[in-house]
Amino acid sequence: MKDLEDLKGVGPATAQKLREAGYVSIEMIASSSPYEIAETTGLPIELCKNIVEQAKEEIRIDVISGYEMYKIRQKIGKITTGSKKLDELLGGGIETQAVYEFYGKFSSGKSQIGFQLSVNVQLPEDKGGLNGGVVFIDTESTFRPDRIVEMAKHQNLDPEEVLKNIYVIKPQNSEEQIIAVEKLDYLLKDKNIKLIVIDSLTSHFRADFIGRGSLSDRQQKLNKHIHNLQRYAEKYNIAVYFTNQVMENPGIMYGDATIPIGGNVLAHAATYRVYLRKSKDEKRIARLVDSPNLPEREVIFRITSQGVSD
Ligand SMILES: Nc1ncnc2c1ncn2[C@@H]1O[C@H](COP(=O)(O)OP(=O)(O)OP(=O)(O)O)[C@@H](O)[C@H]1O
Ligand SMILES: [Mg+2]
Repeated sequence: MKDLEDLKGVGPATAQKLREAGYVSIEMIASSSPYEIAETTGLPIELCKNIVEQAKEEIRIDVISGYEMYKIRQKIGKITTGSKKLDELLGGGIETQAVYEFYGKFSSGKSQIGFQLSVNVQLPEDKGGLNGGVVFIDTESTFRPDRIVEMAKHQNLDPEEVLKNIYVIKPQNSEEQIIAVEKLDYLLKDKNIKLIVIDSLTSHFRADFIGRGSLSDRQQKLNKHIHNLQRYAEKYNIAVYFTNQVMENPGIMYGDATIPIGGNVLAHAATYRVYLRKSKDEKRIARLVDSPNLPEREVIFRITSQGVSD
C-alpha cells in the first residue's frame, strides 16, 4: 500500500494535516467525501477532490461472492466470557473473525476478562470454548500465570496444560509490539490459535509518541497495526480481544466524560466496543457501545477469585 505522500499534490505538510485529522491511509481518503476532508483539514476543495480521485484509483477491489462469504462466516466460533449476561450482551460470547475492544478505568476488569478468555477458549465446544490456543501480548507486564491457574482449576482444566497453550509476548515498546504482530503468521498457523489478547493495545503508543508533533505518526502506525489484527481475525478464524485505557474528555461538562484513547483510528477499528465500569465490590458494568448488529445496552457481571461470572 502506498503512503499519503505518493498522491500527487500531497507534500509533507499536507500529509501531516490529513493524518492529524484522522485521514491516515489511502483507504480512508478514498472512502471519504472531498467536502468533509476540506472542512476538517482546511485544505482547498479542489485539492481534496483531486486526492480522493487518486486514492480511489489506488484501491484494489477484492470481490467475493455472497456464497463464499456465507461459507466463511459459517466457521465463526464463540468463546464464553464466563458470564451469561455478558455473553448475551455480545450476542452469545466473543466471536472469531471479529475484533473486540474493552476499555475502562483501572480495576474495571479489562485484564481479568483477557485472562478468563485465555482459559475459556481452551474448553471444548460444548462448554463454550474452541479447543484452541492463545497468543497473549502483555504490554503492561500484568499477565499473571497464577491467576490463570486459579481460573483453570475452577473450569476443571489442567492448569499446566492451559498455561502451555498460552504464548506470551512482552514487547518493550510500540516498535517491538508492531513487529511482534507482523510476525505472528507462523504461530497462528502452527499452534491452532483461536484467540489473540493484547493488554493493552495503546499504552506503548501513548508513551512513545508524546506531543502534538508526533500525533499523526502515531495514528498512522496504530492504523497499520490494527489492520494486521483484523486481517488475522479473518484469515485464521481467530477472535481478537484488546484492551484500551481511557482519558477524560474536557469537552463534556455533564455526565460520564470517560473516552477511550486512540481517536478516530481506534473508533472504527473494533467490530465490538465495550465500556467497563467498576461498581460495588465484585460488581462490574459492561456497556456495548459500538456494534454492527446489536443494541447499545448495559449488563452487570462479577469478578471473583474464581474469575468472571454472573
Ligand atoms: N484473585 C482475585 N480474586 C478476586 N478478585 C480479583 C482477583 N484478581 C483480580 N480481581 C479483581 O479484579 C480487579 C482488577 O481488574 P483488572 O486487573 O482486570 O483491571 P484493569 O481494567 O485491567 O485495570 P488496569 O487499567 O489497571 O490494567 C481487582 O481490583 C479485583 O477487584
Ligand atoms: Mg489491566
